Amino acid sequence: MATAVLGLQWGDEGKGKITHLLANEADMVVRFNGGPNAGHTVIDRGVKFGTHLIPAGAFYPDTVSVLAAGTVVDMAVLREEWDAVSNHLGWEPRLRIAENAHLIFPYHRLVEELEGSGSHFGTTRRGIAPAYRDKASKLGLRAGDLLRPEAARDKLARRIELLKHAWPKATEIQALDARALFDEQRELAAPFLEAIGNATQDIREALDAGRRVLFEGAQGTLLDVDHGSYPYVTSSSTTFAGLANAIGMSTAHVERRLGVFKAYMTRVGAGPFPTRATGPVEDQLRRVGGEFGVTTGRPRDCGWLDLVALRYAVELNGCTGLAMTKLDVLSGFDELRVCTSYRSDGTAVRGFPAAAEVLEQCTPQYETLPGWPEPLSETRDVAELPRAVLDYIERIEAFVGVRVEIVSVGPEPEATMNVH
Ligand code: IMP
Repeated sequence: MATAVLGLQWGDEGKGKITHLLANEADMVVRFNGGPNAGHTVIDRGVKFGTHLIPAGAFYPDTVSVLAAGTVVDMAVLREEWDAVSNHLGWEPRLRIAENAHLIFPYHRLVEELEGSGSHFGTTRRGIAPAYRDKASKLGLRAGDLLRPEAARDKLARRIELLKHAWPKATEIQALDARALFDEQRELAAPFLEAIGNATQDIREALDAGRRVLFEGAQGTLLDVDHGSYPYVTSSSTTFAGLANAIGMSTAHVERRLGVFKAYMTRVGAGPFPTRATGPVEDQLRRVGGEFGVTTGRPRDCGWLDLVALRYAVELNGCTGLAMTKLDVLSGFDELRVCTSYRSDGTAVRGFPAAAEVLEQCTPQYETLPGWPEPLSETRDVAELPRAVLDYIERIEAFVGVRVEIVSVGPEPEATMNVH
């Protein structure tokens, strides 16, 4: 049985909590895209972790955690997380790293700074786009290169030569030394060198043996490089469509495709956000929801749930069920708004226009639903949810055509209810 956990909004949907919960029953957890731009909040045995690369499976002794070919791996970040998680657990997680996953080097971050793309696109400044660009340009080094030092040092020397040529006035680039850089990366990767290998084969064998495999997505559908609000997107495929490529095999066997979404909407970084609220509504969502980035600490923009965008994401991913998070944050509003269509230039817009230029011109049309005063964070049984909450959930289900299977009302694992 294989399950994919996918973000349906602009990231930060609470995938970390949901995957951590489901990982308890998984034999293998595979992180399939992105890099340390992701920030997954996990509470394990009362300790809060903001993880960026380590898959949620790392917290369970018998679960194998895989970083698949679609990811970009920053060894400095992975090492730091590995040390923190190993210290917390008292044992070392069982990690596998795809030999064809690309590496993020310190110069990727430097290039991102020099190009100013961090400020222009509001990126996480983790070198993500330069690393994926090197991959597509065939200039990248991959995890497997760490196992072949001689050849890899030469490759790196050629890459650095090109960088020096491109950035003649950048002193930090001019100071790069291929040998020292490679040795530093290999040293950081020392605990995982044996973990680097044919991850595609590992995943296939696990599936063939009937093991329970959980595929963990990073970022969200609206940040997908092809189908998100381009160019305000990340640089990888964040959707179920991208999963097959990212792991190197058919996904026909992934029966459960769980889409995770927040009961309202947030966005961090630049780009259009049609249902963004203003004034006290946004303030309340941000304050109660603690809406600050895990990776960057930036305050997130907050707004009402966009059902047009949600239906688009559900359809794109072929979701079989939904997990709704942070429902408790909506307590205390007299009424709630949900966006059910867009208008642009005085006419109705068909579907969800993901491209930023088009989305920017759209005005959301809202439906208003009753709010509820009751706090929900202590509720542990769906039957105890107030009628207005159930109405809110049912309206979402009716609009997107898929059932809400899991409702989360707090960051702790216990604050989770199975609906059906
Ligand atoms: P990058 O992935 O660092 O290139 O950033 C591109 C865009 O994606 C920016 O708007 C980021 O804020 C956003 N982004 C990347 N990763 C995440 C995430 O995990 N959560 C929310 N936003 C993200």
